[in-house]
Amino acid sequence: MRLHIADHPLITHKLTVLRDKRTPSPVFRQLTEELVTLLAYEATRSVRVEPIEIETPVVKTTGVALSTPRPLVVPILRAGLGMLEGMVKLVPTAEVGFLGMVRDEETFQPTTYAERLPDDLSDRQCFVLDPMLATGGSLGAAIEFLFKRGAQEVTAICLLGAPEGVAAIEKQVAGRDVTLVLGSLDERLNEKGYIVPGLGDAGDRLYGTV
Ligand code: PRP
Ligand code: URA
Repeated sequence: MRLHIADHPLITHKLTVLRDKRTPSPVFRQLTEELVTLLAYEATRSVRVEPIEIETPVVKTTGVALSTPRPLVVPILRAGLGMLEGMVKLVPTAEVGFLGMVRDEETFQPTTYAERLPDDLSDRQCFVLDPMLATGGSLGAAIEFLFKRGAQEVTAICLLGAPEGVAAIEKQVAGRDVTLVLGSLDERLNEKGYIVPGLGDAGDRLYGTV
């Protein structure tokens, strides 16, 4: 597994505001989008392109276009939905699939309650969006789901990750083509499975408590 931890003062600044418990939902949503766009720049470094010929007003020249099949972006509902706009801003032609998952707050086991993805993902570059990598249960299950459908390559973008979650994903995906892009690698998980220092419950902060 390749691990990329963002190292940029703008990302750290935006994450600081995001972590602050006084930051209201509308600002939290806006910052989440901005952060994803910045992280997506790194996460799409290996996106597949093919050469094309174009004409500028001056000469003929060559450039590139995104290859087909198009990249597939998969937000993990609910909190991952808050990352979608920021991602498709950078890759507007990407296809979007959905996975709905919720973790049991006592056992930390994830349950999948919704799925809307192409049946065959062979040869697809998949980009999974989930703001929080805590125990790694949810992201791990999402990655397995995509590989079972034939995905060759999965890149996950998370705003915050705990070392425990990173280690769990690393162990699980050994030998497969997985890249993890984090806005920050935080200190640890607490006894409730929350990331420390973290930002609290990402879904609640984006959308309010349900
Ligand atoms: C949160 C978060 C991740 C998961 C992380 O979702 O968005 O999906 O928990 O925890 P894990 O790494 O221990 O699995 P949650 O289950 O709270 O659902 P929500 O997005 O609907 O709030
Ligand atoms: N899910 C969240 O939303 N936050 C955490 O810190 C852990 C899991």
